[in-house]
Amino acid sequence: MTSVESLRRVLSGMRPTGRLHLGHYHGVLQSWVKLQHEYECYFSIVDWHALTTEYDETASIRQHVRDMAIDWLAVGVSPSAATMFIQSQVPEHAELHLLLSMICPLSWLERVPTYKELQEKLSHKDLSTFGFLGYPLLQAADILIYRAGLVPVGSDQFAHVEFTREIARRFNHLYGGEVDFEDRAQTAIARLGKKTGKLYSSLRRAWQEQGDAEALETARALLMEQQSLTLGDRDRLFGYLEGSSRVLLPEPQTLTSHAPRMPGLDGQKMSKSHHNTIALRDSPAVIEEKIARMPTDPARVHRRDPGDPERCPVWQWHLIYSDDGCRQWVQEGCRSAGIGCLDCKRPLIESILHELVPIQERALDYEDNPELVRSILAEGAERAREAARETLVEVRHAMGLSYR
Ligand code: TRP
Ligand code: SF4
Repeated sequence: MTSVESLRRVLSGMRPTGRLHLGHYHGVLQSWVKLQHEYECYFSIVDWHALTTEYDETASIRQHVRDMAIDWLAVGVSPSAATMFIQSQVPEHAELHLLLSMICPLSWLERVPTYKELQEKLSHKDLSTFGFLGYPLLQAADILIYRAGLVPVGSDQFAHVEFTREIARRFNHLYGGEVDFEDRAQTAIARLGKKTGKLYSSLRRAWQEQGDAEALETARALLMEQQSLTLGDRDRLFGYLEGSSRVLLPEPQTLTSHAPRMPGLDGQKMSKSHHNTIALRDSPAVIEEKIARMPTDPARVHRRDPGDPERCPVWQWHLIYSDDGCRQWVQEGCRSAGIGCLDCKRPLIESILHELVPIQERALDYEDNPELVRSILAEGAERAREAARETLVEVRHAMGLSYR
């Protein structure tokens, strides 16, 4: 596994909070389902992360993990395309977390924005724990243990991925250095052959001297094509593009989805804690009732009062679910009081049920077959461990812990 291949690897994680809702589906899961066919994907149910804040409420973790796994499978995360697993079943994450903790400055953890924010938000809990402070480092270990190049997450996680990059950089700086790095890099360039070597050097210069990001990409692609390079030389040349050490742990990038985010029933962010969700496994009757009770433009007190879709959370959903014809019908009908709010909600109820019925059918199959779910997760953990062990061998070695 070289840093070059890492660009094809995706890792993401989700805290097991129980049954998932439409916000998860439109925000994250749909993009995972696509990514799994384009990249080598690792999707983790991060139960240790749940413990960082819920260490005093562990009774529900087991069920939450199971529900999450079922929902992932039901929306189409495929165990033959992606590796899905429970974090604590891959103890290699913990070893890397420990090793990285040796080089992680305390101040870096203290200044991660979510640290203070969450402590304040969850002020009813005592979160002045070692585990909670180390949360972003555990997340960094989750990513770096697979040398994943891409991390699909929402904007609330950008700071954690940036933190991961800083840790990777520090690790590479401390342990990727070689006394004769420059010489070895030059030898590796010579091994590329005259033409390719020249091209590599000029692309490297364009990046280092002019900051030409396209040149950097081209150089990486060029390295990716070289079949004959040894693994060590690849890491070196990859590292030489940007600095003077081997890339032992590549710096990951975030992968943002451009899907519109699905607001909750009240127009705020859809979230369990806001009680404004439609769960993927809510029954049709419950879904219908929740939508029927959705608040609308407050100006529409009576059926004859005209309204403005811009002031209505129902309109936000039409932007996700409806075609142009339907949207025009809403715009005109709302502004002229030609339609009532319940009329306006009808096509949404139809679309959402249409979307969720097949998901619910698949979920039911998995609910009825817990042994299948268990074995999918066990196989996922086995596959993940294999990849994780490869990284650990090199990390241990780089840190002076090899006793072969
Ligand atoms: N911290 C993430 C969240 O709260 C969950 C998470 C843990 C994660 N490890 C990860 C996300 C690794 C992406 C990659 O949502
Ligand atoms: Fe909202 Fe539709 Fe009612 Fe207008 S008609 S206020 S868009 S629900």
